[in-house]
Amino acid sequence: MFFYKEIFPYHLSTMSPSSKTIIITGATSGIGLALARQLLTQGCNVIGIGRSTERCQQAQRALSNVNPHTHLTYLLADLSLQVQIHKLAGQIKQQLASWQIAYLDGLVNNAATLPFHQTITMEGYDTQWAVNYLSGFLLTNLLLPYMDCAPAARIVSVSSASHYHTRMHWHDLQLFHSYNPLRAYKHTKLAQVLFIHELNRHLQDFPNIKAFAADPGLVNTDIGLKGNSSFMDWIWKLRRKGGVSPDRAAEGIAFLLLDMGVRDSHQIYWRDAHPQTPNPRALNLKDCQRLWQISSRMVNLT
Ligand SMILES: NC(=O)c1ccc[n+]([C@@H]2O[C@H](COP(=O)([O-])OP(=O)(O)OC[C@H]3O[C@@H](n4cnc5c(N)ncnc54)[C@H](OP(=O)(O)O)[C@@H]3O)[C@@H](O)[C@H]2O)c1
Repeated sequence: MFFYKEIFPYHLSTMSPSSKTIIITGATSGIGLALARQLLTQGCNVIGIGRSTERCQQAQRALSNVNPHTHLTYLLADLSLQVQIHKLAGQIKQQLASWQIAYLDGLVNNAATLPFHQTITMEGYDTQWAVNYLSGFLLTNLLLPYMDCAPAARIVSVSSASHYHTRMHWHDLQLFHSYNPLRAYKHTKLAQVLFIHELNRHLQDFPNIKAFAADPGLVNTDIGLKGNSSFMDWIWKLRRKGGVSPDRAAEGIAFLLLDMGVRDSHQIYWRDAHPQTPNPRALNLKDCQRLWQISSRMVNLT
């Protein structure tokens, strides 16, 4: 628990001992990979999700010796495609059965992408909308049955402070008519917070499951170098120099997954283990319900 001691000393006494099982999407690099390492160190079993076989294998190799007393595996899924998310949920079920684990303790919707030019998935969705927001909505709903009987399950969507600087574009949710990479990114990050707010309302009868949005701050990762734009690469290389390390960012997320004290909190948006007030637009009940209904239709969820 060395990192909590250094950064969150006042929470140390309330940390639960682990043997939790936690899923992390986008666990092949940056914050997701750092979080996987920290959770293994804490004694958690980890299922990492990645979109590339090679990067999944690299990550699994890099983490294989972190804690021999825990389970670790990587599963492959392109989260821009709902068909692959459904398949992934089936694979997760099989993985839990093969480890003889009865329930899931956590899901971290962390994967995100930032293409410079708009790309449309084979299923007809804007890729940022599909990966950064809709995949988390669908995967969470598919995995909720596995969290039902967990003593204290947590769902964490990794959002961003950029969600403060936008509003919901209801008439063009996927920005088909007005795409700009940062505009789309902020929009998906706001949608995540609305989703988390509404999810907690849906979970009122399940006090053992809590959902949070985590703001990792500015983090020195490669996210801005993967958008197929040398201009964006240049900007991000400068900007990320001011960011914290992925390890430091992951600590705030691990806190939300493992700390016993947050169980009774009604705060939904957290940064570095401290609750923050989100964009007030994310707390508008009608908007939260509206987004839930639209998202349900988009993923054919009854
Ligand atoms: N970096 C920051 O300053 C910052 C600030 C605020 C919030 N965040 C949030 O933090 C989270 C993690 O970002 P990061 O900075 O750590 O970036 P990152 O290193 O690029 O991590 C993103 C992860 O998502 C995966 N991914 C992308 N598209 C995918 C797809 N279609 N299917 C499955 N996985 C996919 C990536 O896989 P590959 O390894 O194959 O690329 C990678 O593992 C994101 O939600 C981001 O919005 C980051």
